[in-house]
Formats: sequence, C-alpha cells, structure tokens
Amino acid sequence: MTAARVKSRAELRRERRRRAHGCWDHLLIAPLWPKHGVNLGTLLRTCDAVGACMVVPRRPWIPDALAHGNTLRKPQCVHWIQGRPEHWLERQRTNSAIVGVELTDESIRLADLPTAQRRTVIVLGHETTGIPPEGLELLDVAVEIPMIGTGNSLNVAVAGSLVLYKIAGLC
Ligand SMILES: C[S@@+](CC[C@H](N)C(=O)[O-])C[C@H]1O[C@@H](n2cnc3c(N)ncnc32)[C@H](O)[C@@H]1O
Repeated sequence: MTAARVKSRAELRRERRRRAHGCWDHLLIAPLWPKHGVNLGTLLRTCDAVGACMVVPRRPWIPDALAHGNTLRKPQCVHWIQGRPEHWLERQRTNSAIVGVELTDESIRLADLPTAQRRTVIVLGHETTGIPPEGLELLDVAVEIPMIGTGNSLNVAVAGSLVLYKIAGLC
C-alpha cells in the first residue's frame, strides 16, 4: 500500500451508509435466554452494522444493559417478548426460517450457511447451558462455528456476530 490517506471513521461512515436503518424485520437475532448484559450490548452493535433487529425477553435488568451497551447513542431496533421464549419462537415458524447457533450433532458449518432469502430468526443459547431442548426442537437448522482450539465454545456475542455477518451476506 502506498501513501494512501487514512480516512476518518466519520468519512467512511458517510460514504458507506448514509443513514441509520429502521426496523426492517428481515433478520432477527434472538438471545432468548440471556445471562450477561454485556453480550446484549455487543450484539446490538452488530445488529446496527448488518441491519438486523434484536429480540429479547422482558426482564427487569435488560433495558439498562441495552442502554449501557448502546454506544452508538442511536435508537436501535429491539423487539420485546412476553411469556415463554419457546412460545414466541413457535409463532415465528409460520413466516420465518429459524436458525439456531449451537454445537449439535446435526449442525451445519458456518461456511455452508447461505445468505437469508426470507425473514430469519437466529436463536442464541444461554451463556452457560446453551439453547434448551424445547428451543432446539423448533429450529429448522442449527449452525456451528468450527473451532480448533481447546475451548468448548465461543462467547455468545462473538458467535452471534459471526453468524449475522454470514447470513446477511456481508462476508
Ligand atoms: C458459551 S456457549 C454455551 C456453552 C454451554 N456450555 C453448552 O455446552 O451448551 C453460549 C452460546 O454461544 C453460542 N456458541 C458458542 N460457541 C459456538 C460455536 N462454536 N458454534 C455455534 N454456537 C456457538 C451458542 O448459541 C451457545 O448456546
């Protein structure tokens, strides 16, 4: 690379995306059994970057966690669900593909996950226990991110962000 001028983040942002997206309701990332607020904030930034919405259960601590994590200081597209997460997920099956992000015997590899062609809900698991059995039953497909290290799993916000980028067709 020669002496190219390094552009400021503000310049790059103006050139690449001129306005904040609204709620397109096309890609929805659903950490339905969340434990750590910091992961929700991280996911919210990825949602903004790829044009996705987030779906979270109504729990007293979540609004604060999202406000804290929303470093973009702009309104984000967040859907709140009442009641049991599995019931909400069941209802989505009428008009959406349901993709679970989880290590299972039947999971496809991230590289084989196609770009979403229809409204898609991407389900993430609990930080300690993963997607519960009643959630796994409602998936159309599960996707896993291959790992070659010694850890058992990735951080849930990292896993969700990788899948969001792939399914949005941005990488
Ligand atoms: C920390 S992991 C849960 C690990 C839990 N001990 C288990 O065995 O299910 C939290 C969530 O991150 C996602 N995740 C983490 N690593 C992943 C991977 N390599 N492939 C797919 N999903 C992953 C899944 O949604 C998982 O439910």
